Amino acid sequence: MDLEQSFEALLQRPILSKLPEFQRNERLKHVIFAQQFDRDLLDHLCQVASMIRTISRNRPGQDFLTGLLSHRRAMLYFTQPSTRTFLSFMAACQILGIVCNEIRDPTLSSEYKGESPLDSMRMFSSYFDAIIMRSNVAQFAECSAYLMNELDARQQRSVPIINAGSGADEHPTQALLDIYTIQRSFEFSSPKDTLRNSRFDQLRSKYPSLTLGLSNKVYGFCGDVGRGRTVRSLSTLLSLWENVTIYFIAPDYPKLAPRQDMLDRLREAGVRVHRARALRDVIGELDVLYMTRIQHEHNTDADREFFETFDQSKYILTSELLPEMREYCAIMHPFPRNQEIPPEIDLDPRAMYFRQARNGMWIRAALLAHVFDADGRIVTYHQKNYGLTRQDA
Ligand code: CP
Repeated sequence: MDLEQSFEALLQRPILSKLPEFQRNERLKHVIFAQQFDRDLLDHLCQVASMIRTISRNRPGQDFLTGLLSHRRAMLYFTQPSTRTFLSFMAACQILGIVCNEIRDPTLSSEYKGESPLDSMRMFSSYFDAIIMRSNVAQFAECSAYLMNELDARQQRSVPIINAGSGADEHPTQALLDIYTIQRSFEFSSPKDTLRNSRFDQLRSKYPSLTLGLSNKVYGFCGDVGRGRTVRSLSTLLSLWENVTIYFIAPDYPKLAPRQDMLDRLREAGVRVHRARALRDVIGELDVLYMTRIQHEHNTDADREFFETFDQSKYILTSELLPEMREYCAIMHPFPRNQEIPPEIDLDPRAMYFRQARNGMWIRAALLAHVFDADGRIVTYHQKNYGLTRQDA
């Protein structure tokens, strides 16, 4: 794909200089990089996601939500396999009334006859109001956003591009759902809480330094952290919080180890970054454990040779390790999983990964509402029907 040729000069720039082009006034126009989100926007999206969750619990609320964007259409262009991202975006569209269509196999489109992917994008923009895309080609989403910006500058039809995973690059909306899941995990609210006794109070008696929220936490990313785009996007967002420590628990093999540019960027942002060679060595220190699978689909012949003798056991969360973990440590995984989290761990109350996947639906609905300027109406409806939230007060 000759994407670099089309937009070479634009692609070469430092990421921060690109961000204003993906904004429209105070709103995201395209969603391409995790760096587009600041703390205010993340807090707002998490708040709107929780409001959508509450509103959708009853029929009048569902009717309100499905009426919000029923005049909009979205194209789900997923040419790389996906279960969660595809389905949660589809469900998010359905929650908001957005009609969506899909292309998952480009050989069933005119790309089979030689149409260029960028021509395809322009065609989609003729019929749809947003393009949500996953591709194994790094920077394809970014190039598609530049194409839309060029059309916009010529006052031609242009629609938002939402990156649902691009090559080994970025997975910004996965990072959103991860942040939302961590935020919910560290609210420590439980139906059993009373004014005199809450789960948070109980935990604080054992862990005096424990705080609510994402600050003051120790995060561990374990497994194939070098090739995991979710690790890159989430660690970028975590650096927005105060007093964050990250352990990258990965073998020294260069493909699996954290990339130097990511480590430098995190340190520059004030994150304390450490390396660990085995999960067991640090598991007791973690507030959040983010497991990842080994991404064998990216292996070269040399990688395959390395994996013939590779011992993965140091990067597997076994039942024997569970007692060593903090009582409240959130176990996360973007999924799909292989053997790094055996199914018996699913019964542990700290296992968050299925909730994490469901949270993807709520936060992606919040993101779409933001892009289409419908989030204000969700806040108003929520305030009218459920009163002020803690953040509104
Ligand atoms: N986490 C994630 O991106 O899952 P899918 O590949 O199934 O979309």
